[in-house]
Amino acid sequence: MSNIIVLGAQWGDEGKGKIVDLFSESFDVIVRYQGGHNAGHTVYVGPRKFVLKLIPAGILRPGKLAVIGNGLVVDPGALMTEIASLRANGVEVEKQLAISDRAHVIFPYHPLVEKLTESREGRTAIGTTSRGIGPAYEDKYGRRGLRVVDLLDRNFFSDAFRTLADDKQTVLAAFHLEDRIDTGAIAAQYEELAELIRPMVTDTARLLNHEIRAGKHMMFEGAQGTLLDIDHGTFPFVTSSNASAGGACTGAGVPPTAIDGIVGVSKAYITRVGGGPFPTEIHGEAGEALRKAGNEFGAVTGRPRRCGWFDVPILKYTAAINGFDSLVLTKLDVLDGLKEIPVCTRYKLRGEELDWLPASIRDVEALEPVYENVPGWEGITAGITDFEKLPNGAKRYIDFLEAETGIEVGCVATGPERDETIIRPGSKLAKLIGR
Ligand code: GDP
Ligand code: IMO
Ligand code: MG
Repeated sequence: MSNIIVLGAQWGDEGKGKIVDLFSESFDVIVRYQGGHNAGHTVYVGPRKFVLKLIPAGILRPGKLAVIGNGLVVDPGALMTEIASLRANGVEVEKQLAISDRAHVIFPYHPLVEKLTESREGRTAIGTTSRGIGPAYEDKYGRRGLRVVDLLDRNFFSDAFRTLADDKQTVLAAFHLEDRIDTGAIAAQYEELAELIRPMVTDTARLLNHEIRAGKHMMFEGAQGTLLDIDHGTFPFVTSSNASAGGACTGAGVPPTAIDGIVGVSKAYITRVGGGPFPTEIHGEAGEALRKAGNEFGAVTGRPRRCGWFDVPILKYTAAINGFDSLVLTKLDVLDGLKEIPVCTRYKLRGEELDWLPASIRDVEALEPVYENVPGWEGITAGITDFEKLPNGAKRYIDFLEAETGIEVGCVATGPERDETIIRPGSKLAKLIGR
């Protein structure tokens, strides 16, 4: 048993929620380290469906500690809505949840500023989730943002908030955005929210380091995916935080030496929601068919996800950036029934072969994927829980991906339910999660 990071190997929505929920059984503490309520992590527990946004999936297991780390941007209203919905389903959130006093706070002017920048003439829209994530991180890195600890400081908060809100009003007025910021009403609302979250707020870095010294086992749950990482993703079509493994240490306040393993979650194909280049995107009917088979609609915004074939160069790139020990391959069942499955094994850029994702977005847009057609399989993988019972063709597809990426596939998901999963005995992954 170890401390591990579980994170997205593609552009998000890889099925991290389901996997973190499943692995949570083996861990004491589950920690989110970046992002905010732009994430939507779907978990099915029997007949109940949960879509977690800010709270780590570990909350669904009684007795586990769930931590919202310092690296997040927290909208306290959205957090209370999420808490209420979990509570209505019998989850004892207050007993299990700790919120970092160093996390930054999202205010109602953040989505307004985002609307302004997304719709500005001459600017390519990123296609964000409209949750104010980017502008809240801008305030953090501009060193003017307010943190949870400031929100709870009654003597400090009100004036500091007014000063910041007045700045935003000036910006909005300059761009003739008619939305007004009602400073008094927002301050009053946030003071109320502050009291609701106060009992759960603590210095989570201190708490986590204490738990590590006490020998507790921790899992860090990434949101978004490596290709949406602000530094390593397809900039500017990215989110505003470090979704990659490095973000876990800064976003939780634990040392890199505390991490024993890193697990990438990848679909058996690939999806992307929002704008930006997508080398293996499938257009037309075939793309529509995959979207339908995989029910590929955003968990947060309901937007149709763009679908594409598995992209080996991307996986190799994200494996290098993160140092994956093992890969979880989700949604294998969605490929059931396909006669042939194209897999992109390399790229060409203006006639030259490439083995790394280029920095320039113009270059990423110009990439030409080179495909190999892997035979599909007859029979179904849906719901299978024993690797040996998978159709031979499905095993060959997994072998092919392992050989091409150079990383073991330690776990395969064959359906949305907790138990529709195969953990391969003897794999590095099985060891990391103590199975
Ligand atoms: P996350 O953001 O990475 O947690 O992923 P999402 O929850 O946004 O999207 C993944 C979707 O795929 C959810 O609806 C899951 O219930 C579903 N899912 C996860 N694993 C599997 C699987 O192996 N097979 C199928 N059919 N669905 C899956
Ligand atoms: P989970 O954790 C997929 C995408 C948005 C947009 C870009 C920037 O469920 O995998 P933002 O609102 O973060 O400023 O939007 O990032 N995006 C996601 N795509 N899964 C997510 O989270 C995402 N979170 C943000 O669609 O393209
Ligand atoms: Mg999601």
